[in-house]
Amino acid sequence: MTGRADDGHGSPVGRGTSRDRWPDGGSAGGLLSGPGGDALREVASRVRVLFAGGKGGVGKTTVASALALAQARAGRRVLLVSTDPAHNLGHLWGRPMSDNPTRLTATAPGHAAAGGAGNDARGGHGGGAGCVDGVEIDPARTIDEHLRQVGDTLRRLMPERLSGEVARHLELARDAPGTHEAAVLERIADAVETGLAEYDLVVFDTAPSGHTARLMALPETMSAWTEGLLRRQERSARFGAALRGLTRDDDGAGELVGRRDPRAERDGEIRRVLLRRRTRFERLREVLTDPATTSFVLVLAAERLPVLETIELHEQLVKLGVDVGALVVNKRSPAGAGGLLDARRTREGEHLRTLDDALPGVPRTEADLLPDDVVGEAALARFAGLG
Ligand SMILES: Nc1ncnc2c1ncn2[C@@H]1O[C@H](COP(=O)(O)OP(=O)(O)O)[C@@H](O)[C@H]1O
Ligand SMILES: [Mg+2]
Repeated sequence: MTGRADDGHGSPVGRGTSRDRWPDGGSAGGLLSGPGGDALREVASRVRVLFAGGKGGVGKTTVASALALAQARAGRRVLLVSTDPAHNLGHLWGRPMSDNPTRLTATAPGHAAAGGAGNDARGGHGGGAGCVDGVEIDPARTIDEHLRQVGDTLRRLMPERLSGEVARHLELARDAPGTHEAAVLERIADAVETGLAEYDLVVFDTAPSGHTARLMALPETMSAWTEGLLRRQERSARFGAALRGLTRDDDGAGELVGRRDPRAERDGEIRRVLLRRRTRFERLREVLTDPATTSFVLVLAAERLPVLETIELHEQLVKLGVDVGALVVNKRSPAGAGGLLDARRTREGEHLRTLDDALPGVPRTEADLLPDDVVGEAALARFAGLG
C-alpha cells in the first residue's frame, strides 16, 4: 500500500546516495543545482564518454545538451553527438547541424573558474576555453560511404567479369537487416576515437532505449562475427597454401619469392581488413565498459512504465558491463503548484519509490516540468541550473 503522504522526502532508501538530502516536497531547481545535482556533475566531470539514454520524449537531448554546456563552462572541450535518427539537437541549439562537427558554443579562457567543476585531471584545461561541438550522425551517408569503400576493395580484388555481381551484392547489403545499426555503431566508434583524441568529453544523445542497449552489445556481437570470419579466412588461407604446396616441387618454397601470388595477396588484404575491424570493436568495448572512462545517464519520466523500463535498461547495461552513473527524473511536476500538479506529484512519488527500491545505489536527480520547451543556450543554462 502506498499512501499520499511523504512524497519525495520520506523514502528510506537513500543509502548514502544524494537522495538522502531530498528536501521535503521542495522543488527540484536546475538539473545540476538541485538535490542530486552534485552527483550528476561529478559523473560528467569524471568520465571521457557519457551516454544519455531513455525513451523518446523524456528529455535525453535536453539533458545531454545541458551536461555538455555545463562541462564546456567548466573549461572542457565537448563533442556532443546525436545517434537518434529523430535528431533534435539542431532544433534545441537553434543551429543547422550535420554529420560534421558544428561549433555550438565556446567559453572564453578564464570563464572556466565560474563553472566551478574543473576538477577532472584528464579534462585539465585548467581555466582554458571550453566548447561544445555538435554532430548529428547520418546513417544513410555512413552506409553510402561504407558501401563505396567495400565496393572499391571488392572490385580491386575480384576478377573484372564479377563486377556486376559485386554491384548487386552491395545493393542488397544496403537494405539488409543490421546495416543501419552497423553504420551507426561504426560512427559511434569514430566519435569515441575522435573524442578521446581531440576532446575532453564526448556526450552521446542516444536513440530510445531498446536500440541503445542493442548498440552497446554490438561490439561484442561484431567481434564474435569478425572472429568467425577470421577463422574461416585462416582455414582457407591454410588450405590454399597447402594446395599450392601440392603443386610445386619439394624445395619449391623459394620459387614463390619475388613472384606475386594474387590469391595470397587478396587473402592477406581481407585478413588485414578484418583484423582492423576486430581491433577497433575490441577497443570500443574496452572504452565503453571502463567505468573510469564511460558512464550512462538514464533519463526518465516519473511514470509507471518508464520506471519499469529504466530498471530493465539498467539491468541490461550492468550485464553488458556498462556503468550507470546517474538517473535523471525529468519533467517532474513542481511542488506546491496545487490541484492537478500536486496530485500528479504525489503519484510520481509512488513510482519513484519503486525506482529507489530497485536501484538504491544509483544517484538520482530531478528536473521540474517547465512551462516552456527548452530551446536555445540561455534556456539550456537555466534548465541546467548554471548561474
Ligand atoms: N523539464 C522540462 N520541462 C518542459 N519541457 C521539457 C523539459 N525537458 C525537456 N522538455 C521538452 O520536451 C521535449 C522533448 O525533449 P527532448 O530532450 O527532445 O527529448 P528526447 O531527446 O528524449 O526525445 C522538447 O520539446 C523539450 O524542450
Ligand atoms: Mg532526442
